Amino acid sequence: MEKDISQAVISRLPRYLRYLGDLKDQGIERISSQELSELMKVTASQIRQDLNNFGGFGQQGYGYNVDNLYSEIGKILGLDHSYNLIIIGAGNLGKALGNYMNFEKRGFILKGMFDANEALHGQKVRNAEIMPMDRLASFIRENNIDIAVLTIPKTGALEYVDVLVENGIKAIWNFAHVDLNVPQGIEVENVHLSDSLMKLSYNIARSAETKAE
Ligand code: NAI
Repeated sequence: MEKDISQAVISRLPRYLRYLGDLKDQGIERISSQELSELMKVTASQIRQDLNNFGGFGQQGYGYNVDNLYSEIGKILGLDHSYNLIIIGAGNLGKALGNYMNFEKRGFILKGMFDANEALHGQKVRNAEIMPMDRLASFIRENNIDIAVLTIPKTGALEYVDVLVENGIKAIWNFAHVDLNVPQGIEVENVHLSDSLMKLSYNIARSAETKAE
């Protein structure tokens, strides 16, 4: 990518991808920014601005070629190749994520799961075996694991972060409620579902105020 794209734009791209994927599935070959705008309830100018960050892809009087735009956005998001992934913490959240097949459609391949609880060892979540923690380091190296998903409590997350980094992990999808210190070059994406819920609660309060006015 030639220039830095703002994180706000990047965070909107997966939504474009979802809508374009649906259009593709419906056999729709092209769409104007106006039509896309009505569908996604985003202004047409926002769509044009967002996509202009990457050179546009649109053609005057034609709109966007759905297939092309879908694959270009996929490339921008790095979805044109696959990633090997492990999940650490095979509790409720870890298992729910592990069972979610759609990640594989996007190229995130679940290779294994890890947990300290012996009772879980040897169980499988789809094809991925739940293994003991002492196999973590060698498994990461031998299976070229790119991404570790942390669905363990914060003390565990802090305990394993060095092992992950030392053995070649490129990125961490962190659900543990703690900020992780990692060297430059290792990407961390923190997910707190409650943030989204708090945003919802803010919007409920705001819409109640608007009605009362
Ligand atoms: P859970 O209790 O069902 O599962 C936790 C699993 O981690 C258990 O299987 C346990 O044996 C394992 N574990 C605990 N300490 C470990 C360690 N030091 N090493 C290896 N394995 C260890 O809990 P649940 O609901 O799956 O949540 C997991 C974590 O994710 C919790 O800490 C919770 O706070 C957090 N969470 C975060 C969310 C978010 O939006 N960021 C949403 C839900 C949960």
